[in-house]
Amino acid sequence: MRVSTIWVRTPTARYPIWVGTGLLGASGRRLRQLRPRLKQMFIVSSPRVWALWGRRLAEGLRGAGIEPVTLLTDDREEAKRLATVERLAEKLLGHGADRGAVVAALGGGVVGDVAGFLAATYMRGVACVQIPTTLVGQIDSAIGGKTGVNLRGGKNLLGAFHHPLAVLADVGTLETLPAREYRAGLYEAVKCAILGDAGLFRFLEENLAAVLARQPKALRRVLVRSIQVKARMVARDEHERGPRRALNLGHTFGHAFETLAGYRHLRHGEAVGWGLLAATRLAVRLGRLSAPHAERIERLVGAIGRLPALPSTEPEEIYAQLFADKKKQASELYFVLPRRLGRVEMVAGVPRGDILASLRQLAGRPPAR
Ligand SMILES: NC(=O)c1ccc[n+]([C@@H]2O[C@H](COP(=O)([O-])OP(=O)(O)OC[C@H]3O[C@@H](n4cnc5c(N)ncnc54)[C@H](O)[C@@H]3O)[C@@H](O)[C@H]2O)c1
Ligand SMILES: [Zn+2]
Repeated sequence: MRVSTIWVRTPTARYPIWVGTGLLGASGRRLRQLRPRLKQMFIVSSPRVWALWGRRLAEGLRGAGIEPVTLLTDDREEAKRLATVERLAEKLLGHGADRGAVVAALGGGVVGDVAGFLAATYMRGVACVQIPTTLVGQIDSAIGGKTGVNLRGGKNLLGAFHHPLAVLADVGTLETLPAREYRAGLYEAVKCAILGDAGLFRFLEENLAAVLARQPKALRRVLVRSIQVKARMVARDEHERGPRRALNLGHTFGHAFETLAGYRHLRHGEAVGWGLLAATRLAVRLGRLSAPHAERIERLVGAIGRLPALPSTEPEEIYAQLFADKKKQASELYFVLPRRLGRVEMVAGVPRGDILASLRQLAGRPPAR
């Protein structure tokens, strides 16, 4: 299958995102284009992902004369901690990794965030290759340079911006992804469509069965178009001070849902799915989104599958969590709201009554079908 290349260009970095099948096997050849003298690569992965896809990657690297050194680590959210980064750094040192080392992340967002932060900090920064194997990873977390780990008091509070050398999104790796993880990633694709690509939204509406069946051609299209949206946002605003914040569509509510669920009952993407519904309700309530567009968003989110129940049906509790999150970031509470399909706007100063009313509507809504 054809490989698509999407370039991310920012003031400080320029790197390709390769999307297609068979990329693991071609990894060595492709990476050599960027680093002709590359001889060794340190691959951070989880036992599960390595067992599924490690051999394919190792063969792809060895075929081009690059020796893989594997560093396995727990990829549960609980392990996304500084202690894990330190352990991996000690291992790197033990293997003689120096400032010229290249670290790769083979796995989902957890592995990508940990390995990315490791690369950002090891000897004040070494190169990193992101090889995401989840849909969330391929559409979202591997792109844009945000890396980091959790503190006890909150998620991703310790981190750095560190762009990868390249991103290899092998569509084939998604074959083994559990159905729930796969669907969770689709909400991020819907997010990208709402915020920047009405054509992608239509494609998802019309081809959802093929996408849900992971048909490679349909899937690749969804990936490429979603990644283009993200890459465009990152290029416009590398450090997320302005327009890139549009990518937080569904995430203001989503983070509150995730926290209330204790990161257990909701996957990140599922929290975003609920967050999209909440943002849609709020936008309609504020008179900023027309009913037909809102219905299409709700229908598409619903058609992806049944979302697990909301962690709280108490609007006041969710509202309090929204503010707790904002306090941590010392920022004003703003919402990214859909204006129409393909276009969002940032809205601050939303009256409390409207937020509560939207949440009440959401809580009254049975889990989407
Ligand atoms: N840095 C960013 O910009 C950014 C953006 C979004 C999310 N994130 C972070 O990403 C994390 C969530 O990532 P995620 O949704 O990819 O989940 P994940 O990393 O938790 O992986 C989910 C599960 O899928 C398994 N898995 C991964 N690839 C597989 C495959 N191909 N086949 C079978 N199983 C596979 C993993 O072992 C894991 O059990 C969160 O920590 C979130 O904070 C970061
Ligand atoms: Zn997200």
